[in-house]
Amino acid sequence: MGLLKLRRLLVLRILGLLIGVTTAAGGSGNCGFPAVYNFGDSNSDTGGISAAFNAIQPPNGETFFRRPSGRACDGRLIVDFIAEKLKLPFLSAYLDSLGTNFRHGANFATGGSSICPGGYSPFHLGIQVSQFIQFKSRITDLFNRLHSNNRTSTSINRIARPQEFSKALYTFDIGQNDLAYGYQHSSEEQVRASIPDIINTFSEAVQQLYKEGARYFWVHNTGPIGCLPYSILYNKSPDNRDSNGCVESQNEVSREFNRQLKSRLLKLGKKLPLARIIHIDMYSAKYLLISKAKTQGFVKNPVKFCCGSYYGYHIDCGKREVVNGTVYGNPCKDPSRHISWDGIHYSEAANLWIANHILNGSFSDPPLPIDKACQAPRYA
Ligand SMILES: *[C@@H]1O[C@H](CO)[C@@H](O)[C@H](O)[C@H]1NC(C)=O
Ligand SMILES: *[C@@H]1O[C@H](CO)[C@@H](O)[C@H](O)[C@H]1NC(C)=O
Ligand SMILES: *[C@@H]1O[C@H](CO)[C@@H](O)[C@H](O)[C@H]1NC(C)=O
Repeated sequence: MGLLKLRRLLVLRILGLLIGVTTAAGGSGNCGFPAVYNFGDSNSDTGGISAAFNAIQPPNGETFFRRPSGRACDGRLIVDFIAEKLKLPFLSAYLDSLGTNFRHGANFATGGSSICPGGYSPFHLGIQVSQFIQFKSRITDLFNRLHSNNRTSTSINRIARPQEFSKALYTFDIGQNDLAYGYQHSSEEQVRASIPDIINTFSEAVQQLYKEGARYFWVHNTGPIGCLPYSILYNKSPDNRDSNGCVESQNEVSREFNRQLKSRLLKLGKKLPLARIIHIDMYSAKYLLISKAKTQGFVKNPVKFCCGSYYGYHIDCGKREVVNGTVYGNPCKDPSRHISWDGIHYSEAANLWIANHILNGSFSDPPLPIDKACQAPRYA
């Protein structure tokens, strides 16, 4: 190596050290999260439920991946935009055994999952956390074996670094299915009464992860479930509508869930001395989009969705059914003009809009962008 090259390398090294120091001291640098571990439902499932049960069918994935990608969406999810923002690859689903790479994190989210057991999916939050614990312990063991064998094998490049678990960002988007399942199987009042239990279960999950070494938590609250076309179509009462056509009583339960979630996160921040917890008001971000649909380039009709149909019953996106000689369940021509992709899940265009509004910190408390989430104050 030439002297000049060596000097340049040294300068870079020293610069690197300086940057490292400012970051550690809570300066203006980015956190440089080396990995993301995500927990949630279909809002952030990048292939888990699709690998575990029935593969998600076309036209899902058509906009971005040009093929089904395990996501209930025409393209990318908010968790994908998080990965892009942090300059990390898209997260592989923990349950997917093919073509995965866990070097920079893993996704434990699965479609249908709720915080509490007994909902639509067996993979409730407690299971996702125990999957993470097993993942961490097996990765640590595997890494150490590969490392001590001094193998520069490709497999070591596909797994997380054990020392990075405490530097990673832990992201959450879950709770919507606890409410949705509740509405299907009990009264709204019962759903509201169940919120403290759901929040307790969520809090236990965070504390378990903290015990495992997790430090940085990025928590989305739950969205306006009463604005999903599905909720609107199945709740006919016209006097239970807000100015955007959403089911007001269901949104009010979501807001109550979110009030309790936020106050619990504050308590957790005080209880866990090394935790940095950021709460993201996903509800307000999604509701803002729905309120401003028209000026943001989306169709305004709140029950409009792109893929699938509703004829008194729901024909799922990707399923074809002949009703009176016409085939339904096909996608619309312009998914990017629809906030809702399939009546339940947001389109890629909506996800991008939401990501652009939440990842820069404007809906965060404390108001930090995601790449500076490690700078949240300690409450303890
Ligand atoms: C590991 O392998 C490298 C490259 O083959 C070699 O230079 C190094 O000495 C080895 N280290 C140990 C601890 O065996
Ligand atoms: C199908 O056609 C029948 C007879 O014309 C009509 O009564 C029914 O409403 C139609 N169903 C749908 C879903 O359009
Ligand atoms: C975040 O981005 C959105 C969308 O571009 C913008 O409206 C908002 O003002 C930004 N907020 C901050 C704090 O940068």
